[in-house]
Amino acid sequence: MKKTKSTHHLLCLFLLCCVGGAKPMVASLQLESPLPSAYYSHHFFPVSTSNNRTTSQLDWSRCHYQRRPPTCSLVVQKFPVKSSSVVLYASSGGSTAPADDETMEPPSSPPEGSKDRRKVVQVAWEKLVRWSRSWRSKAKTDVLERANKVVVLGGGSFGTAMAAHVAERKAQLEVNILVRDPQVCRSINERHCNCKYFPDHQLPENVIATTDAKAALMGADFCFHAVPVQFSSAFLEEIAAFVDPGLPFISLSKGLELNTLRMMSQIIPKALKNPRQPFIVLSGPSFALELVKKLPTAMVVASKDKKMADAVQQLLASRNMRISTSSDVTGVEIAGALKNVLAIAAGIVDGLNLGNNSMAALVAQGCSEIRWLATKMGAKSTTLTGLSGSGDIMLTCFVNLSRNRTVGVRLGSGEGLDDILSSMNQVAEGVSTAGAVITLAQKYKVKMPVLTAVARIIDKELTPTKAVYELMALPQVEEV
Ligand SMILES: *[C@@H]1O[C@H](CO)[C@@H](O)[C@H](O)[C@H]1NC(C)=O
Ligand SMILES: *[C@@H]1O[C@H](CO)[C@@H](O)[C@H](O)[C@H]1NC(C)=O
Ligand SMILES: *[C@@H]1O[C@H](CO)[C@@H](O)[C@H](O)[C@H]1NC(C)=O
Ligand SMILES: *[C@@H]1O[C@H](CO)[C@@H](O)[C@H](O)[C@H]1NC(C)=O
Repeated sequence: MKKTKSTHHLLCLFLLCCVGGAKPMVASLQLESPLPSAYYSHHFFPVSTSNNRTTSQLDWSRCHYQRRPPTCSLVVQKFPVKSSSVVLYASSGGSTAPADDETMEPPSSPPEGSKDRRKVVQVAWEKLVRWSRSWRSKAKTDVLERANKVVVLGGGSFGTAMAAHVAERKAQLEVNILVRDPQVCRSINERHCNCKYFPDHQLPENVIATTDAKAALMGADFCFHAVPVQFSSAFLEEIAAFVDPGLPFISLSKGLELNTLRMMSQIIPKALKNPRQPFIVLSGPSFALELVKKLPTAMVVASKDKKMADAVQQLLASRNMRISTSSDVTGVEIAGALKNVLAIAAGIVDGLNLGNNSMAALVAQGCSEIRWLATKMGAKSTTLTGLSGSGDIMLTCFVNLSRNRTVGVRLGSGEGLDDILSSMNQVAEGVSTAGAVITLAQKYKVKMPVLTAVARIIDKELTPTKAVYELMALPQVEEV
């Protein structure tokens, strides 16, 4: 039997956070008299405030009630009331609520409500579009207009893809790729194709390859560094004489230098013997092949110098490329350096057939471990949840393309490491990175259960199955 309640219940509101602005606010509601329990699960119970703001001005769709009678807490995303203490009146407002019926479902919305919601969505979208237009009209393009020449160091897949992307931005821009392999050089210049990595893709005509470092760097406005981390130091020392001290270096290389545990932001200025060489790091979920296919991609550029990050954003942002800026160089670099070790772990979970729950849990745990280390090293935790953090990690762990991940799959399905390594080239480095990562974690006194387990498996001190058992048996802790 349903009883209709129409009494008004007085609620006192205690504010636990600041009120106003767009900041989420947590308010605790103390009920003067207990409401029937059904009210707590009722998402839409009407509330009006003492200063007579109507309920419609409070965005109740963004509020959550926690059912903890006689108190319920309320998370208000955007609260239009400025005063710090407001009395809220809650009433059943004529809606039908069965008294003390724990299992009551929220009322199914009438067609009227669905029309309203559609309207709300329309208004929200129109706001977004207006906001976007106003930004677009103010967008600056002078960096691209002024740039005449860009150099890309390294003719691997990502260097080539980035050269093609930036060349597409402006036909008059001269894009030089410095490559080692004379055959690749010839194929780019004669057939506009990097035969080694993208045999089926035509590169823009303004992409020119060379094996001459001096000619490549001469007069360049920007330099993209796409040489693998382990070879970068020696390579840069060799070409240092041709590098203008003001030439911005945009690092595309991800990883840790194995013996020194340095990342590119440390390697580049040291090798060029110029601590003031402008440095920018570009990172994010971006498979080179999808980039050359011009599929929508989003990345982040980070630099200590905001002007530099803004300049690279202008240079690269296009219809198929979103570029966000950041000042958190460490945060962007560290996730890029560690994600391949996590990819090995993801491969192992796959190889052991542990299922999708396991995979998601593993990747979430891995993200946390990387965040713990990164924040100890001075990174912002928001960077780690962004494109260069979670974004790139998801791509590397969930998509079956990386060789590091394949090593994990084969380890998980019971193959020995030596057999795997002898049958694949270029993976030894990813495998040794695991140990380097743990050395770094030790230096900063961070516990990394999953990543340490990977390193132990690689050291042949632990089998994948035993590792899973040990990880599952770790203390049950509070989430951090
Ligand atoms: C709020 O407005 C209603 C009518 O809309 C009025 O009856 C009531 O007295 C007002 N309350 C306060 C606190 O101003
Ligand atoms: C994981 O999800 C995929 C896609 O739904 C499904 O094909 C696969 O069987 C799942 N794995 C397990 C172990 O259930
Ligand atoms: C994933 O990778 C493994 C080994 O690298 C391969 O055997 C398998 O076919 C791949 N699966 C998919 C769906 O591509
Ligand atoms: C494997 O990981 C290493 C170390 O992070 C990295 O340098 C290498 O590029 C990765 N290889 C692939 C194919 O992703």
